[in-house]
Amino acid sequence: MRCDGKVAVVVGGGSGIGRAVAELFSAQGAAVAVADVNKAGAAETAELIRARGGVVSEHVCDVTDFGQTDALIESVLREHGGVDIVASTVGWSDTTFFADEDDEYWQKIVRINLMGSIYLCRSALRVFSAQKSGSIVLTSSDAGKVGTLGETVYAAAKAGVIGFVKSLAREVARDGVRVNAISPGPTDTPLLRAQSDQHVIDKMVRAVPLKRMGTAEEQAAPVVFLGSDAASYVTGQTLSVSGGLTMTS
Ligand SMILES: NC(=O)c1ccc[n+]([C@@H]2O[C@H](COP(=O)([O-])OP(=O)(O)OC[C@H]3O[C@@H](n4cnc5c(N)ncnc54)[C@H](O)[C@@H]3O)[C@@H](O)[C@H]2O)c1
Repeated sequence: MRCDGKVAVVVGGGSGIGRAVAELFSAQGAAVAVADVNKAGAAETAELIRARGGVVSEHVCDVTDFGQTDALIESVLREHGGVDIVASTVGWSDTTFFADEDDEYWQKIVRINLMGSIYLCRSALRVFSAQKSGSIVLTSSDAGKVGTLGETVYAAAKAGVIGFVKSLAREVARDGVRVNAISPGPTDTPLLRAQSDQHVIDKMVRAVPLKRMGTAEEQAAPVVFLGSDAASYVTGQTLSVSGGLTMTS
């Protein structure tokens, strides 16, 4: 999983799983560009990495704006002289019932969880296809594999990420570019805590064969594996990291 000499962009790096991913890429020797719509979160993550002697830059990027994903890749190129790995852990959800939701909510869910991945990949490929190398890691959810009560449109968007990863991986393999994703199950992060009270979390955990939530660090390890050369023969995969919650292929 060593990433010495590589530049890793971590979008969504200002919190939760993304922060752990940024820290682990740095620990594995990569220079890290931390990007997030939340400027303060990105700055905090960058500071954690800097304090341990890592090479890091911070960037504000809203992935729902194609212009901003292009600008992000350009600014990383300017600051680090290259891009080798792009990982996105961006996501957002709220637990509500489909019948109670409106178009504005659906658009927000789809834009953050699916369109953001599409924009980011297109921006990354401007560099990766030209240099004939690169690795992309996106974040789906087990909700997109088996469905979750109260997360209908989120599940649809995350299932979209899985199909996108498979098809894009086929298209860009000829350019030496790999595309994969993780599919987390319940993971102890600010997003999960904001969405679910302890009663709901306890219920979720009962469905997990390992009988506990995952940690951000347990999600970060497979992201860094998939992004690194250790996974050089892996592409088009969405790996469930969910304590056995889903065992589908
Ligand atoms: N925590 C879980 O239980 C769980 C389960 C399944 C899937 N996931 C997925 O894992 C990923 C990480 O989630 P987390 O739990 O670490 O959440 P989190 O809220 O802690 O982190 C998500 C980050 O994405 C950023 N973000 C949101 N919208 C953005 C945008 N438009 N542009 C750029 N950045 C944006 C947020 O500012 C935040 O820093 C998400 O894709 C989430 O859907 C999480």
